[in-house]
Amino acid sequence: MKPNLYMPIKATIEHIVEETPAIKTFGLRPQEPIVFQAGQFVELTVPGLGEAPFTPSSSPAITSEMEITIMRVGRVTDALHDMKAGDTLGIRGPYGTAYPIEQFRGREILIVGGGCGVGPLRSLLFALFDDIDHFPGIIVRMGAKSPQDLVFREAAANRWGERGDKVDVLFSVDHAEPGWTGPVGVVTKILDPKYTDCNPQQGVAVMCGSPMMMKYVSGSLLERGYAPEDIYLSLERNMSCGVGKCGHCRMGQYHVCYDGPVFSYAQLQALPESWD
Ligand SMILES: Cc1cc2nc3c(=O)[nH]c(=O)nc-3n(C[C@H](O)[C@H](O)[C@H](O)COP(=O)(O)OP(=O)(O)OC[C@H]3O[C@@H](n4cnc5c(N)ncnc54)[C@H](O)[C@@H]3O)c2cc1C
Ligand code: FES
Repeated sequence: MKPNLYMPIKATIEHIVEETPAIKTFGLRPQEPIVFQAGQFVELTVPGLGEAPFTPSSSPAITSEMEITIMRVGRVTDALHDMKAGDTLGIRGPYGTAYPIEQFRGREILIVGGGCGVGPLRSLLFALFDDIDHFPGIIVRMGAKSPQDLVFREAAANRWGERGDKVDVLFSVDHAEPGWTGPVGVVTKILDPKYTDCNPQQGVAVMCGSPMMMKYVSGSLLERGYAPEDIYLSLERNMSCGVGKCGHCRMGQYHVCYDGPVFSYAQLQALPESWD
């Protein structure tokens, strides 16, 4: 019999990390391994309430457990934030396109994240770390409203930089607080040559964040000389089926769930609704 496309796999919440006042990372153990690639998304089902799409923030090399970093914004995410270790939920997927890591090999990677967009980017980073010899350098630039809104700051400070000169990480905040010594300003500020010594002709750039943030970051990257086909971003759209059938996520000629969520800027530049 054909497997039911919409039937979730049961998963247990193993651990929960409170990243910021509004963002938690959930460690989930599905009843059977889930194989995904960085950038793809899954649908999480809260029993009796509904489902919503999220992108794993954990290493794609680990299939027995999956971490997902979730911002509380409404009905489903409220219910998820109220759940405890030991509770169960459903996962279906993975769906959609992934970051084309094979094509990135040999090129410098600039990763730019904001808010909860850093989740998918952490998954990408883990995949790049596993293959680090094939990348001349990885530059990570992340922004948040304030220091307490920065996600993964501790891991970035303590572990991501363990790869020596190959990984260069910098955070910025829109509003500083006492004790903050880093740059202050929106994330585009730290894409300036003063803070970011990158090689747009040789490298690729990947970003994830709010539509507004990605619009402005794209502009900065184009100004710095990145080609539209070397800039990748992840789009979020209202979704239902997640598998290209219902039309909920339609944008121009694309179904975001099926043709995305990872797109190149070159694919999107003729679609102004990308930034809605
Ligand atoms: C492919 C994909 C991957 C995603 N990955 C993640 C992830 O890794 N982590 C994460 O936290 N979220 C992620 N999202 C967003 C997440 O799906 C939504 O936040 C979620 O569906 C909101 O459901 P809700 O029932 O809690 O909110 P609702 O009750 O439906 O909405 C409450 C409020 O939140 C707003 N809202 C709804 N969707 C979004 C959204 N996408 N972004 C911002 N505000 C929204 C609504 O406009 C409304 O004002 C992803 C979305 C997509 C399409
Ligand atoms: S969510 Fe149904 S077509 Fe994309």
